[in-house]
Amino acid sequence: TWTPDAFVESTVAELKAKIGTDKVILGLSGGVDSTVAAVLLHKAIGKNLHCIFVNNGLLRKNEFENVLKQYEGMGLNVKGVDASARFLDALEGESDPETKRKTIGRVFIEVFDDESHLVADAKWLAQGTIYPDVIESVSATGGPSATIKSHHNVGGLPDFMKLKVVEPLKMLFKDEVRRVGASMNVGSERLGRHPFPGPGLAIRILGDITREKVAILQEVDHIFIQGLRDWGLYDKVWQAGAMLLPVNSVGVMGDERTYEKCVALRAVESTDGMTADWVNLPYEFLQKTSNDIINKVPGVNRVVYDISSKPPATIEWE
Ligand code: XMP
Repeated sequence: TWTPDAFVESTVAELKAKIGTDKVILGLSGGVDSTVAAVLLHKAIGKNLHCIFVNNGLLRKNEFENVLKQYEGMGLNVKGVDASARFLDALEGESDPETKRKTIGRVFIEVFDDESHLVADAKWLAQGTIYPDVIESVSATGGPSATIKSHHNVGGLPDFMKLKVVEPLKMLFKDEVRRVGASMNVGSERLGRHPFPGPGLAIRILGDITREKVAILQEVDHIFIQGLRDWGLYDKVWQAGAMLLPVNSVGVMGDERTYEKCVALRAVESTDGMTADWVNLPYEFLQKTSNDIINKVPGVNRVVYDISSKPPATIEWE
């Protein structure tokens, strides 16, 4: 029978034998899979694991700083790279969802390639690929690796993509990854984290992205997510987030009329993200959250709650 402890023991032994004293590079995202893969590799090869955590400027409020601290607390050898300006400059004026994704993917590869060159003599690229990712990339025509490759078939692959690949979680399902993480004492802030898309807030800001819009959405999202935690609702929801809409609407403040932004809150139940139902959050919670957002976030005067299920309404609005 499969147990997380036995998996950790045998995988650590295999990784030691396979990698020896080679250096390994791994991109951390803050999510469950890359974190658990890093902790496993760190157990096996210690400081020869070089983790890179990129801030694309589209993360949640304080996420980069908080997660970096957590990783350092786990003893990981991690370099935080704040490339926010590079991503936001590249996204300027872009409002097409797929172009946003491609731009973010391209800049990520550039930043990651630059950083991986700073790790002299790296031999391996570690990835937190899990079993469902393997299936998906076989069945889908344009999985993440296909996207990466399509940008580089002109000038050839970036150097880090020529490294040997090690994927210690490749045979595991998500719940098994969580159990493996728990057996290595990875905290619940990482293991219980809601899914968060790679392009981050870029696909929750409908239309073009500006630094000001990112800052507004980070505040709104923070109030919503912290509220879910405070009300004991966070773990009852599969994923939650806020969308900044490209419309202004009229409001009144004292004697004045305002013409300000509208945000949509979305919280869903799901098992795999393929289908999803909107969550029936308590009215009292929605009322308090809406008031907090409108009172505390300048520039927002209206909050709506998304009551659409998937299909047809995707979880993200872009
Ligand atoms: P949708 O919006 O398609 O999302 O219902 C399903 C799940 O996938 C996430 N998502 C993404 N994750 N890059 C990612 O890494 C993306 O471009 C992307 N688009 C959607 C979404 O957050 C949800 O968990």
